[in-house]
Amino acid sequence: MTLAGKRILLGVSGGISAYKAVELLRLLTKAGAVVDVAMTPNATRFVGVETFRALSGRPVLVDLFDEASGRGTGRVMPHLEPAEAAQLAIVAPATANVLAKLAHGIADNALLTALLSVTAPVLVAPAMDSDMWRHPATQANVELLKSRGVHVVGPVSGELARRNVGPGRLADPEEIFRAAETILAQRELAKLLAGRRVLVTAGGTREPLDPVRYIGNRSSGKMGYAIARAAAAAGADVVLITAPTWLVPPGGCEVVKVETALEMHREVISRAAECDAVVMAAAVSDFRAEQVQGEKVKKGDKDRWTVTLVPNPDIAGEVGAQKRPGQILVAFAAETERLLENAAAKLKAKNADLVVANDVSREGIGFDADDNQVTLLYKDGREEPLPKMSKEQVAQELVRRIAGLLEEGKGAGR
Ligand code: PMT
Repeated sequence: MTLAGKRILLGVSGGISAYKAVELLRLLTKAGAVVDVAMTPNATRFVGVETFRALSGRPVLVDLFDEASGRGTGRVMPHLEPAEAAQLAIVAPATANVLAKLAHGIADNALLTALLSVTAPVLVAPAMDSDMWRHPATQANVELLKSRGVHVVGPVSGELARRNVGPGRLADPEEIFRAAETILAQRELAKLLAGRRVLVTAGGTREPLDPVRYIGNRSSGKMGYAIARAAAAAGADVVLITAPTWLVPPGGCEVVKVETALEMHREVISRAAECDAVVMAAAVSDFRAEQVQGEKVKKGDKDRWTVTLVPNPDIAGEVGAQKRPGQILVAFAAETERLLENAAAKLKAKNADLVVANDVSREGIGFDADDNQVTLLYKDGREEPLPKMSKEQVAQELVRRIAGLLEEGKGAGR
């Protein structure tokens, strides 16, 4: 996701962390965004207007009636122009006072007036003393704002202005920046998959050995859940077939919980035909125990316990073999060696349209990590390496590619 050319309204309210808004502004402008800053009068007591004016290269809105707001230029309601142009409004820091006023539609300064007229998404980054943050009135205001679709990042726990420690610290500017990127990316995704049905698998299957033991793997489900979320955000009708994970199921998706590869096989195969795209992000066990013990095997029961493994069905392979023209199959390849060679072999073997190759031997990506670094391999031989990014971003990129392939009618039977 690039912020280049994006119009952002950055609201700064009067808290000790107002100085961090300068760093946020720097990150936004460095990414190419055009940022209009609006400050509450209290905010100007913490950081000077000139700092924001110099770094944004644009007038700063503080007073509804001053020259900087365009008085005497012949423009009508110039203080509302940044709000009208904004593709995203961020308030950082957002004090308890500003949150309360925003929640209740009070517009007694230029920033609040702009926020009331903004139609773009709004992201607030609260910052205040812990007691103020925990106060039921603040919590109720934040809940009210969330229920209206306002995005909230932070606050985080840490040392506060009174040298006490607790929740109330402004989220890191980097984190606010990333949240802004995600919101804008999701807006861009909207409707990309409208009217499409997408099946996503996630998590690692468990193959029982006895009532307490199983063969599993290190998949957390993060990658598959991120794909389900991104596809739903893009307007698809999503069914998520998930092996056990600790994750909260994404909203707006039909969630089917399974445990074993055989259960996943049954649920995927019974639905695949009615889907436009099938995305196999789950780590499916290739083998299961031929015989599952009915009772827990005790240490003293046997000198040696031999488990015979038999192959599980290749779910993606079966979906690929039954694929109808126009349908898209995306498989993943989790590799520890010869990444691209092995991934290309899987693309062919499973009759997939796209294989997402990820090197699971590297630190910080792959299993259970928040980030991933993948190369996309297409049926026509194209290879597209993506930089390291969050799994949410990988998912959004993937959704864009799937939408493109569906649009081109690239999915094809054997
Ligand atoms: O869940 P996370 O912690 O976020 O980690 C993400 C991930 C590493 C699990 C994910 O990015 C990933 O790589 N998933 C595929 C893991 C895997 O099983 O890869 P594979 O190379 O063994 O299998 C190739 C493809 O065939 C996969 O799409 C797999 O879902 C599918 N498969 C595998 C075996 C089987 N019996 N049936 C299948 O359909």
